[in-house]
Amino acid sequence: MIVSSKKLFEACYGKYGIAAINVWCMEQVHALFRAAQKADAPFIVQTTPVARNYAHPEMLLSMISAAAKIHPDTVFAVHLDHGTKEHAMDCIESGGYTSVMIDASHEPFHSNVALTKEVVEQAHAKNIAVEAELGVLSGVEDDLVVDQKSSKYTRPSEVEAFVNQTGCDSLAVAVGTSHGAYKFSGSQGLQFDILKEIQQRLPGFPLVLHGGSAVNFEEIQRINAAGGQLGIDAKGVSTDELLKAIQYGVCKINIATDARLIWTRVHREFFKLSPAQFEPIIPGKSFMDALETFNLQKFELLGAVGKA
Ligand code: G3H
Ligand code: 13P
Ligand code: NA
Ligand code: ZN
Repeated sequence: MIVSSKKLFEACYGKYGIAAINVWCMEQVHALFRAAQKADAPFIVQTTPVARNYAHPEMLLSMISAAAKIHPDTVFAVHLDHGTKEHAMDCIESGGYTSVMIDASHEPFHSNVALTKEVVEQAHAKNIAVEAELGVLSGVEDDLVVDQKSSKYTRPSEVEAFVNQTGCDSLAVAVGTSHGAYKFSGSQGLQFDILKEIQQRLPGFPLVLHGGSAVNFEEIQRINAAGGQLGIDAKGVSTDELLKAIQYGVCKINIATDARLIWTRVHREFFKLSPAQFEPIIPGKSFMDALETFNLQKFELLGAVGKA
């Protein structure tokens, strides 16, 4: 059953996390709905503009509604991830999405507010929720001075004004994560002092953590053992950090990189171990099964099992 992310966030706030899983192919859609059906866990299925361009928007939405028919007990929201105003407006117009993200976080505060507000007005008229972002999520470089480093994080002093002026329904915050497989250097991790202050200023308001992949080091080692050349400094968000973030108001945890790593590991191992094979559905099935297991474990550690 397709539901509003607002309902999912009201139920989970401060208690458990909702995994927001990026999909761009059929195998991922199967792996996600199968795991959710087994775990009885609510989730968000999300597509980026890149994924919509790759698979075609109709193809992605059709796969999602087919999966919902195959797994009728699933409870989920359908979300546009990292849209521009134009992408968001397109999804609001064409339907199929229960929420959209307008990512104008690279803009100055006032244009971020203006762009987000325009999307909120259109979206709310159609009962669609809006995720906005404040603060710039990116890899933090070691050679940046502290001042520059902290200027990338969400400024807690700005969050109330931003939410009040835009009317957005959830807020993605930059508190130390980045997209991809290389999130942290050294012992660096999530900036809980910033997250705590954001929560104090927005009590009960759903926060979103982008860059939520775990980047399991065993996957990195297996990829490299099968011919890959990923850096051994690959690092993701630990379970402890995710659970602590949930206490501080993070409701939605975005995950894309972990699926890319599993895809890469499965295919590299297949080609290395079975060099005479040329049957795509063999690694395809391995990928679906491995991803289903990953999703199940993710629902468990986020505390979402049995909450659908
Ligand atoms: O944050 C977004 C995703 O990790 C990027 O995915 O390659 O589909 O844009 P994409
Ligand atoms: P990861 O790169 O950690 O998977 O983050 C995904 C994300 O934030 C999608 O919006
Ligand atoms: Na998003
Ligand atoms: Zn993201």
